Amino acid sequence: MVKVVVGTQWGDEGKGKVIDYLAKDCDIVARYQGGANAGHTVITNNKKYIFHLIPSGILYPDKICILGNGVVVDPAALLSEISNLKKEKIKLNKRFFISENLHLTLPYHKLLDQIEDKKRGRGKLGTTGRGIGTTYTDNYARLGIRVVDFLNEKVFREKLRVSLKLKNYLLKEYYEEKVYSLEKISREYRVYRKQIKGYVIDTSLYLNQAIRKGKNILAEGAQGTFLDIDFGTYPYVTASNPIAGGVCTGLGIGPTKIDKVIGVAKAYTTRVGKGPFPTEFKDEFGEKIRRLGNEFGATTGRPRRCGWFDAVLVKQAAIVNGLSSLAVTKLDVLNSLDKIKIAVGYRYQRRKINRFPNSFEVFSHCQPIYEEVPGWRRELSGIKNYRDLPKKTKNYLKRIEELTEVKISLISTGPQRQDTILL
Ligand code: IMP
Repeated sequence: MVKVVVGTQWGDEGKGKVIDYLAKDCDIVARYQGGANAGHTVITNNKKYIFHLIPSGILYPDKICILGNGVVVDPAALLSEISNLKKEKIKLNKRFFISENLHLTLPYHKLLDQIEDKKRGRGKLGTTGRGIGTTYTDNYARLGIRVVDFLNEKVFREKLRVSLKLKNYLLKEYYEEKVYSLEKISREYRVYRKQIKGYVIDTSLYLNQAIRKGKNILAEGAQGTFLDIDFGTYPYVTASNPIAGGVCTGLGIGPTKIDKVIGVAKAYTTRVGKGPFPTEFKDEFGEKIRRLGNEFGATTGRPRRCGWFDAVLVKQAAIVNGLSSLAVTKLDVLNSLDKIKIAVGYRYQRRKINRFPNSFEVFSHCQPIYEEVPGWRRELSGIKNYRDLPKKTKNYLKRIEELTEVKISLISTGPQRQDTILL
């Protein structure tokens, strides 16, 4: 059984917690895209962990965790995460693997990501500055360095030499910035090579063999549908395919092997970085929700922009991901509200639109059309069964199901593992 967990909004939907919850019934947790731009938060036994690269399944001692070829890895970030886990006595040997085909983020990728975003001026994307877009760009430019090349020092040096020639020219002549030394990077990466070598395998082969043996695999998505390079709010997107389609290319498993796709949706909406967001709160109410939901980026610490639940977006996410069901998170953040709004369509130049418009020009001028439902004004913590939820909470959830045309299979009512209700 292969299950996929994807974000249905702009990331930060609470996927870390859902993955952690579902991982207990899986043998393998595998990430298929993104890199250290992700920040997956898991709280267990009152301890908070934030994972950027390593799948959150690592907290279960018997689970195998994989970074597939679709992920981009900054070795320094990975090794720092590994070292933090080792301090917590979490073992990684023989249970953490990275793909030979995965692309490495090098120091110039990070610098260029930051400079390029600054140079965009008013069109700044607000990237995480982790070198994500620049690493993926080099892959498509056939200038990237894969782990399998990195493991061979001679091959690595040659590829690095070619790449640096171009990057240093760009940095020096165009951006008037510092240049990188081949020797310095080679020396730094020699240390990383020794530490990473033991984790590298052909993960596609490993996963396909595991599928044949009947193992349960959880594909862990990072970011969200509307940050997808092809289906998101382009150009305000990340540089990979967080949607379920990315699982096949990012793990090297065929589409016929995927059994279920679970979409994670926050009970309201948030977005970090720039880009259109029709249901965004423009007043102090946004501040209130940010405080209640602790909406600050797990990777950059930036305050997240907050808004009402947008059913048009989640319905579109259901289509492009082929969702089997929805997991609705952070329902408790809405506990104190008298009224809750849901966007059911948009108004654009006096026209009504009831689907997500692909045009950035149209989407950035869309005004939401809201439906209002009463809030439940009750604590939800401690409730273990759906039937014990307040009627008004059930009505809100039912309305989400009707509007998105997807059944809800899981609800999260708090940050801890036990604050989860299965339907
Ligand atoms: P990049 O992925 O660093 O290139 O950033 C591109 C856009 O995606 C920016 O708006 C980021 O804030 C956003 N982004 C990237 N990763 C995440 C994430 O894990 N959660 C939420 N937003 C993200």
